Amino acid sequence: MTRIVLLPGDGIGPEVIEEGRACLELISDAAGLGFEFESHDFGGIAIDRHGMPLPDATLAACKDADAVLMGAVGGPRWDDAPARPEAGLLKLRAGLGLFANLRPARVMAGMEALSPLKAEVAAGADILVVRELTGGAYFGEKSYSDDFASDTCVYTRDEIERVAHVAFGVARQRRGKLTSIDKANVLATSKLWRRVVNEVAADYPDVAVDHLYVDAAAMALVTNPRRFDVILTENMFGDILSDEMSVISGSIGLLGSASTGGAGPGLFEPIHGSAPDIAGCDIANPAGMIASAAMLLDHLGHHDLARLLDAVVEEVLAEGCRTADLGGDARCSTFGAAVRTKLETGLVKMEALRDLVAMNRGCCG
Ligand code: NAD
Ligand code: IPM
Ligand code: MN
Repeated sequence: MTRIVLLPGDGIGPEVIEEGRACLELISDAAGLGFEFESHDFGGIAIDRHGMPLPDATLAACKDADAVLMGAVGGPRWDDAPARPEAGLLKLRAGLGLFANLRPARVMAGMEALSPLKAEVAAGADILVVRELTGGAYFGEKSYSDDFASDTCVYTRDEIERVAHVAFGVARQRRGKLTSIDKANVLATSKLWRRVVNEVAADYPDVAVDHLYVDAAAMALVTNPRRFDVILTENMFGDILSDEMSVISGSIGLLGSASTGGAGPGLFEPIHGSAPDIAGCDIANPAGMIASAAMLLDHLGHHDLARLLDAVVEEVLAEGCRTADLGGDARCSTFGAAVRTKLETGLVKMEALRDLVAMNRGCCG
């Protein structure tokens, strides 16, 4: 049995997670993975029901799980809550020790028109952001009063080293290029960041490294996105740049993410938020959630099934089944259903191929 904890959360979270869960269930049933799903309150809904965004029982269930799939949290209703839903998310990431957040984005061949960039600029862009997730200004000491507020940005050598090793490791498996993004001309934390990244780089002579200041990187992302392979950056820069990067491929609704690094389960979530403006309308794009489900499969070692799920999503999009954010009229639920219809065929073919391979092995020795 493989325990998958679901955290639907708020806004469009429950709508998109249902599409991700149903895809995983279909795959698990067909491939005999034994996935068992259990939902827990998290975010605004947990504030309503339990008075806090991350109840102890939810954190305990996540720690016990093999993987956690999350929708999104937050919304105007809880913006003035003493502990906001977003604080629960930070606590969950820290509680699971998830210091590395991987956010891939790609302009799919033949679908350049989905990008707001000119097709010739967008074509072929394929970027993986590795965002440090449990340090920086998000987690430093804070103060807030009527006339003074502060956020402390702290990074230790260890925090930089461990996420840099993750980023160099994945760069090695991709096109062997890593761009570290900082603000080393101004910030002390960035100065240390750059130094440590250069030191870690010595262990990866096969990876080409360069450095960009975050302001210039924001520009390069939309003028020359193909110059990037792996981007390594700190928590807040990664948050901002990954939203910018997401629209290069067409919509923030397309991007999934994997948060890893801890000894326990990984956390898989689309990079978008709870989208209160479209919540409850069945028009959200569930592709980013389904991409997160594929990353979950990959993380659990089911690489072929992960590739199949990604390929099916791409085919469905290529055939023109698209939600409103991509200019289409598909609903969240109909997009999910289209993915699962195609997935069923793909799973049958995969099974037939496996049988064939097994049969050949049987006869040939
Ligand atoms: P958002 O990502 O929720 O929405 C930004 C825009 O993108 C909106 O116009 C929205 O309709 C659109 N959008 C987002 N996801 C979409 C999808 N799947 N399909 C189609 N359109 C989509 O960002 P926001 O409006 O700044 O934040 C709303 C709330 O979500 C806030 O409370 C914020 O703190 C929270 N938030 C949570 C997460 C998370 O849970 N990981 C991430 C970002 C923001
Ligand atoms: C994200 C979100 C979160 C972040 C917020 C909701 C805390 O924007 O996952 O990108 O900034 O990490
Ligand atoms: Mn964000």
